[in-house]
Amino acid sequence: MVIKTTEFVKSSQRWQDCPEGNKPEYAFIGRSNVGKSSLINAMMNSKYLAKTSQTPGKTQLINHFLINEHWFLTDLPGYGYARVSKSTRKDFEKIITNYILNRNNLVNLFVLVDSRLAPQKIDLEFIQWCGESGVPFSIVFTKADKLKPNTALKNAEIYHEELLKTWDELPDTYITSAEKKEGMDDILNFITDTNLM
Ligand code: GTP
Ligand code: MG
Repeated sequence: MVIKTTEFVKSSQRWQDCPEGNKPEYAFIGRSNVGKSSLINAMMNSKYLAKTSQTPGKTQLINHFLINEHWFLTDLPGYGYARVSKSTRKDFEKIITNYILNRNNLVNLFVLVDSRLAPQKIDLEFIQWCGESGVPFSIVFTKADKLKPNTALKNAEIYHEELLKTWDELPDTYITSAEKKEGMDDILNFITDTNLM
């Protein structure tokens, strides 16, 4: 897919405030600091479209971008940010889960996990919830440039084994680096192939 136009549409606190869901939508979720906003910028070839930060908890609202005047790309707040109060964390989780369950035009959710880490409980729980809730999702391994290529692949395999303990089928997975712009085309091809609305 050639990215011709990218346009910031709106930041929303609740799913009810999101732009009218009249176009196919693809959203990016994962733990705080996993690299959601960076991945979006790398995919869109735009350094500053989504705001990134070294400090976790940067993205706190549901951010909609309109791509090629045809589909929505959504940057979501991270889950599991440890340095906020339990009630704030719960509020964030509510924003995220309500958005996912109510956004009828959501075609696919990309769940980002850090390719350097062994499967984390919080990510596995979130993935479990997606599966149980019937949410269409893929897994995106991030920051692969921080590892040797074989290690990223190996870690992905360990992840697959963990998932196969619970599920018969594996979701699509992508190994990416926003830094090196690797894996971007695979995600964009998936979006092209499913962008039928
Ligand atoms: P929140 O909005 O806080 O939930 O974080 P986020 O998931 O949007 O992460 P963000 O894109 O802001 O990136 C967090 C940090 O990781 C930043 O310092 C990025 O530069 C760094 N980072 C993101 N992607 C990559 C990558 O592919 N490679 C490397 N080396 N660093 C990355
Ligand atoms: Mg962010």
